[in-house]
Amino acid sequence: MTNINQLTTNNIKIPSKDLEILKTNFSHCFNKKGNFDFEKFKKELSKNEDIDFSNESYGMDWLGKSYARLLANDEATTLLKENKEWNKKPENKNSDNLLIKGDNLEVLKHLSNAYNEKIKMIYIDPPYNTGGDGFVYQDDRKFSVEELSKLAGIDNEKAKRILDFTQSKSNSHSAWLTFMYPRLYIAKQLLKDDGVIFVSIDDNEVAQLRILMDEIFGEENFVEIFIWDKKNSAKGVPTKNMVVNIHEYILCYSKSTNSKLFGEERTKDTFSNPDNDERGIWRLSNIKSTLENSEKFSIIDPKTGNKFTNYWAFSKESLKKMIEENRIVFPKELGGLPKQKEFFNEFKNANMPIKSNLGLFHAQDTYEEAVDEMLGPKVFPYRKPTNLIKKIVSQAGEDSEVIILDFFAGSGTTGDAVMQLNVEDDGNRKYILVQLPEVIDSQKNKTAYDFVKNELKIENPTIFDITKERLVRAGNKIKEDNNKLKEPKDLSSIDFGFKIFETISNNKGNWGDYILEAENFNSQTKLFDEKKLSKEDLEILLITWKTYDGFSLTKNLKEIDLDGYKGCYLDNKLYLIDKGFETKNLKKLLEEIDINKEFNPAIIIVFGYNFQSKILREIADNVKNYANKKHIDIDFIIRY
Ligand SMILES: C[S@@+](CC[C@H](N)C(=O)[O-])C[C@H]1O[C@@H](n2cnc3c(N)ncnc32)[C@H](O)[C@@H]1O
Repeated sequence: MTNINQLTTNNIKIPSKDLEILKTNFSHCFNKKGNFDFEKFKKELSKNEDIDFSNESYGMDWLGKSYARLLANDEATTLLKENKEWNKKPENKNSDNLLIKGDNLEVLKHLSNAYNEKIKMIYIDPPYNTGGDGFVYQDDRKFSVEELSKLAGIDNEKAKRILDFTQSKSNSHSAWLTFMYPRLYIAKQLLKDDGVIFVSIDDNEVAQLRILMDEIFGEENFVEIFIWDKKNSAKGVPTKNMVVNIHEYILCYSKSTNSKLFGEERTKDTFSNPDNDERGIWRLSNIKSTLENSEKFSIIDPKTGNKFTNYWAFSKESLKKMIEENRIVFPKELGGLPKQKEFFNEFKNANMPIKSNLGLFHAQDTYEEAVDEMLGPKVFPYRKPTNLIKKIVSQAGEDSEVIILDFFAGSGTTGDAVMQLNVEDDGNRKYILVQLPEVIDSQKNKTAYDFVKNELKIENPTIFDITKERLVRAGNKIKEDNNKLKEPKDLSSIDFGFKIFETISNNKGNWGDYILEAENFNSQTKLFDEKKLSKEDLEILLITWKTYDGFSLTKNLKEIDLDGYKGCYLDNKLYLIDKGFETKNLKKLLEEIDINKEFNPAIIIVFGYNFQSKILREIADNVKNYANKKHIDIDFIIRY
């Protein structure tokens, strides 16, 4: 049995998967102190002739890159709270969709264990840094010059320049890249091995983003830069060079070379079966060849005896066989020229490739007009056309394993698209949306402000309130539209609900008093006021911990009664959080492990602040004896 002390009330650290992989496979390249010996590693790899170290080094550097790396790896400074009232509602209680309120960097860090390699597709539409879109670099981490220089491994002078820039609300390319890097870095870890990411962008940052994504995802995982048109005419103010920009970009990268986009379903429109061929519908396809090395010979229509001499796409033998099998026809309307019958059922790929130019998606198409009606025309005008996002989301497949993540949710278009697609193809996709509670300015954005304040009756309007409302209204609209159909579909299996969680700062309110260094903590003394941590606070702690330990947010722990003390248990992990654990509860705990086949804790995690050191020792000793006797492993972890 291992007895481990952890400090995690203010220390949720994202795991470094790269380091883990290195430690597993190249443990001999780490020294005693656990430091990585790069030269040794390089020598090791050089034995492999496929690896060429002579390549030029190439990459992008910017002021703040070392800071961005630090942000990607440092710990979360928040805890996770559930909106219990919302999540209890009948439409939400069994839902696997999530809407999370908070800064997406914090949220991504919280998700990094539980959703590690679980996400099939990420679509994001970050601020474009146009100068007018309100993007400014904001960050409330307060490092001193010395701290930053030590943590980021840079000199004081550089650390000072970085701090100046991160605190000056900059919207330079450097500021934007510093903002994007850590988010994309963690996002990559969440993607499944065959997962893909799509990122919307325009001319302002497309060049920077491409190189950044090459660096994070690897050039070999570049899939495409899709373009789409937002209008179909050159109306608008041209540049001095007489150009009107009408398109935007969506960069697509895969996690590995194992991904495959869905493509487009082959439509049956051009196929028919005029001769009732038992192989099913078919269409005509050319068999003339333009290739140099193809054969020139004659083929004869067996019915008319007409002879056609040409270069053909098939060999003489193949064509002879095809004529016998009724795969070649000589349609009169085409002057009797031979054609191949191409059968729909015989296509190797059921789907057609998707074009890199996605086409026109109008901000005012019929559905977008309906969204305007749903929320009010100017409430969220800069959202993406839902049909565009449907096209992107449809590239991920439709089964229940497909989770779509959008951590710049805005009006929630991605959630709407997921629901619509699920209705259309009986799919089971889930979504996770993240949105900052960005305060809506009552002057600059009066319509949105009034909508949230007056219609939704929310005192301090934020964009998050709009995201939430759109998801509810879009779900209702889909159901209403379905009911209006002559033959409405049964939508009972479609998940129209969603659960809400939010990040809360761990040094505000009651938590402020708990930022104690583990070694300073002496549990003999009663350090905190009995009343300070409420039941709700402890629930927050439990949700944060269970997510940190790898349980998805939609998975609930089960309560287990230990002679009057409530423990929480799931999949071999037992949490003891509340105060008041006594010897009789410990006795019952061991009894339960003994007799209850469903209860097999391999890890017992306790909240150290709520346990006297005497009982901690008692648990440790007794669990250890029990585990030894039964030849099983039970870890005992005390967290603060
Ligand atoms: C361009 S909008 C996305 C619009 C969305 N695609 C739609 O169709 O409605 C970007 C959104 O990201 C949000 N955002 C910006 N920074 C964020 C952050 N750090 N964490 C979470 N959301 C953020 C903004 O509030 C804004 O709503």
